[in-house]
Amino acid sequence: MIATVSQENKTKASQYMHWAKTRSQARFNLATSGMANLKLKELPASIDDLEITGEGGYGYRPLIEAIAGRFKVEPASVVTAAGTTFANHLALATLLEPGDEVLMESPVYEPLLALAEYLGARVRRFQRRFENGFAITPDEIERNMTAQTRLIVVTNFHNPTGVMTESETMRRVGELAAANNARVLVDEVYSEMLFSEEAQSAFHFGERFVVTSSLTKAFGLSGLRCGWILAEPQLAERMWRLNDLFAATPVHAGERLSLIALKSLPEIGLRAKARLDEHRELLNTFLDSRDDLEAIRPQVGSIMFPRVKTDSADELINLLREKYETSVVPGRFFEMPAHFRIGMGGDSEVFREGLDRLGQALDELR
Ligand SMILES: Cc1ncc(COP(=O)(O)O)c(C=O)c1O
Repeated sequence: MIATVSQENKTKASQYMHWAKTRSQARFNLATSGMANLKLKELPASIDDLEITGEGGYGYRPLIEAIAGRFKVEPASVVTAAGTTFANHLALATLLEPGDEVLMESPVYEPLLALAEYLGARVRRFQRRFENGFAITPDEIERNMTAQTRLIVVTNFHNPTGVMTESETMRRVGELAAANNARVLVDEVYSEMLFSEEAQSAFHFGERFVVTSSLTKAFGLSGLRCGWILAEPQLAERMWRLNDLFAATPVHAGERLSLIALKSLPEIGLRAKARLDEHRELLNTFLDSRDDLEAIRPQVGSIMFPRVKTDSADELINLLREKYETSVVPGRFFEMPAHFRIGMGGDSEVFREGLDRLGQALDELR
């Protein structure tokens, strides 16, 4: 499918983000894609560690050095931003001019699509297919690129399906971009859930790659808004300068807390991994027991994207919410209405009960 978006369709809002903020809450919330939020008291921070005002300039140097150290990159390649959301904004706005062509995965995390439309880009799509395990296939990208494609945008792991892209495939995408004088933006916010000793990033696959991420999903630290972009230094410089037109100066107390959090990631990550492994097993057992659902089942991460065997999961989703007080994310936000997204990062009791209720709702609809 190739969908082009004209200037008239330009939006200044994200339908999904609005829904997530106003409609996703429920007693049994399976709609959240990240780990449950940590409390301030779970960080080794005291009020004496904080300060309101930094030295000014482009980011808090110790934080930039900590992020650079984590990914083994030059500090000049690091730009900090308010979450992956604003990192994506700075990256896309720097990489695209109005009218430029961008190639985006489908299904896609809707705010990325809305952002590209808002920036006046011409959006083309390439498919990640259920039948193919929602994998990225370089052939599919090549088929949908044109000589005008300036940027390819992917998420890794993929939101909504949770599927991880292997390094070899990502490198191949980089080669396709290079041959076209284009770049690749990889939103890596879920890759943090590899919890590996050495943080992984597609940034190391070459100068064509720009990546974004944050402490939000894997560590339950959304509230810190500690996001970043890794890009080659000239591009990074342009992003800092663009930010002068937006946020200009970061919240310094947030920068200080983020630095403290970064030093605690190994312990926070261990706990998160244990919870996800346990919940993934529960979800796999649940899916084994259902012949009315089909799902690609990644071995990593915090989300899965099952589908019902009819055209739409809306009836199930509404029943779940209204009678069973349980929320999942409707697949329509990802252009796939037969699907729904389940998040595994929440509290264990809530997760178990939510799955049980999902089973009851499915039984009722048989
Ligand atoms: C792919 C992707 N990118 C970015 C975000 C937002 O991350 P942050 O809270 O760091 O802005 C999300 C949240 O759902 C996401 O799924």
